[in-house]
Amino acid sequence: MTSPRTTLSLVDTDPAELAVDAIVIGVHSQTTEQESGSPAGALLLASGAESIAAAFDGKLTETLALLGATGGPGEVIKLATLGTVTAPVVAAVGLGPEPSGAAPAPETLRRAAGAAVRALAGAARVALTLPLPDDADAPAALRAVSEGALLGGYRFAGYKTKPQPARRTPVAEVLVAVPDAADATAQAEVTRAQAVAGAVRTSRDWVNTAPNELRPPSFADAVATAAREAGLGVEVLDEAALAAGGYGGILAVGQGSEAPPRLVKLTYTPSGGGNGKRVALVGKGITFDTGGISIKPAQGMWEMKSDMAGAAAVGAAMLAVAALKPSVAVTGYLPMAENMPSGTSYRPGDVITMYSGKRVEVLNTDAEGRMILADAIARACEDGADYLFETSTLTGGQVVALGKRIAGVMGTPELCERVRAAGDATGEPAWPMPLPDDVRKGMDSDVADISQVNAGMDRAGHMLQGGVFLREFVTDDVAWAHIDIAGPGYHSGEATGYWTKGGTGVPVRTLLHLVDDVAANG
Ligand code: BES
Ligand code: MN
Ligand code: ZN
Repeated sequence: MTSPRTTLSLVDTDPAELAVDAIVIGVHSQTTEQESGSPAGALLLASGAESIAAAFDGKLTETLALLGATGGPGEVIKLATLGTVTAPVVAAVGLGPEPSGAAPAPETLRRAAGAAVRALAGAARVALTLPLPDDADAPAALRAVSEGALLGGYRFAGYKTKPQPARRTPVAEVLVAVPDAADATAQAEVTRAQAVAGAVRTSRDWVNTAPNELRPPSFADAVATAAREAGLGVEVLDEAALAAGGYGGILAVGQGSEAPPRLVKLTYTPSGGGNGKRVALVGKGITFDTGGISIKPAQGMWEMKSDMAGAAAVGAAMLAVAALKPSVAVTGYLPMAENMPSGTSYRPGDVITMYSGKRVEVLNTDAEGRMILADAIARACEDGADYLFETSTLTGGQVVALGKRIAGVMGTPELCERVRAAGDATGEPAWPMPLPDDVRKGMDSDVADISQVNAGMDRAGHMLQGGVFLREFVTDDVAWAHIDIAGPGYHSGEATGYWTKGGTGVPVRTLLHLVDDVAANG
């Protein structure tokens, strides 16, 4: 299931003369100290809008204020231009208070571009003239605007049998106004943003696909097909190959479903061997999580169609890697299973011999993510990795601790800090969490090497239990980070900024930022 894509290009001609359906400008809300006493009240035009303002004879802010504009973040106020400029509509997007001396933060621009493009659905061609810095921060700002615009134009195709006349078509074409459209750095940012936003969209599409349509075999096929087209190396282990290979964790979770499990491995090989470093990306691919025998309550269970958001992010990020060709080797591992209750399900009390050879005592079949991830992590370490980034909708504890926007990060401290910084740069915030010894102690099993959760079923710190469990399967020479996205992977509220309802595509942009980071800095 794929949705139509928005395209993006740069322009450097006068925005007042652009032949587009709408032109987007930025407006700031003024702080009270700045109060000008002007009829425009608290509204302040952002830079980039100068020629549009001139065409309105200085009455633009006043008119926008009359229409209710306050410049608050996410606000979009539309105005008919009645021939003052070529575009028939001006849309003013709120950027919040003007930051002192500097251009708005990249994430402010990313959200504003997303909100504006979303609000302009129905228009075919839209130009954005937002405040961009002209210094060393220019590439990051352009990247943000481009990503925000492309992602605000996302819509899941869905399953409606009849056309929806009331539904406006997402913007097809975005033009971004820059000082020099031929500038090579600016062009490179657009190329990158197209690939990155394309990956986020693919990841959202996979998450939003109904779980009866995306079970492990069909998910594996979809990923493998896209990856082959992108020129990646593809290996798919089916249930027979998993059994022959001894992938006990993936098989245990998958055995309750009629749709058998898979492990998909995607390989990107840089030309000339890259910088010699090897990055492994691992993502949880539970296509539906009922909890299994330790079944979940019915309330909200449907949302567990998003329990493959980690695998979707890794698969989609690999597609962007193939397009962007970084100078570092990157391999993606996507373990896939459907966690179902049935007569063949694994059960609490089972002892499972994992791919690494370690034995795990199962206490709660709903802690299935760590079972499939442990095998994929062990395989990635065996294949040889210098850095391993694993991401998963692993625990409700992450949502309790950090909420719906901020991911939890556990692992090698130095690498956790790099993940935090990457999240900060991309607008996908992530926060480091500890791996305490006492939490590991609580997972000692009477019969096996480790319990899958706290042996007394104590849920205290259960996000940390997940991290502590996964650490057991990482070999000592590998720097690793576990990114728990149970909250940020899926957005069930109304669309906001460049987030639409449903799959968010988190942490595709973080993973791609980290790949660039390792390619540049080792
Ligand atoms: N997929 C869930 C975690 C989850 C919860 C993701 C909410 C997204 C939103 C995971 O498999 C799970 O069931 N975790 C259990 C762990 C427990 C059994 C230790 C949980 O969160 O309760
Ligand atoms: Mn579960
Ligand atoms: Zn799960």
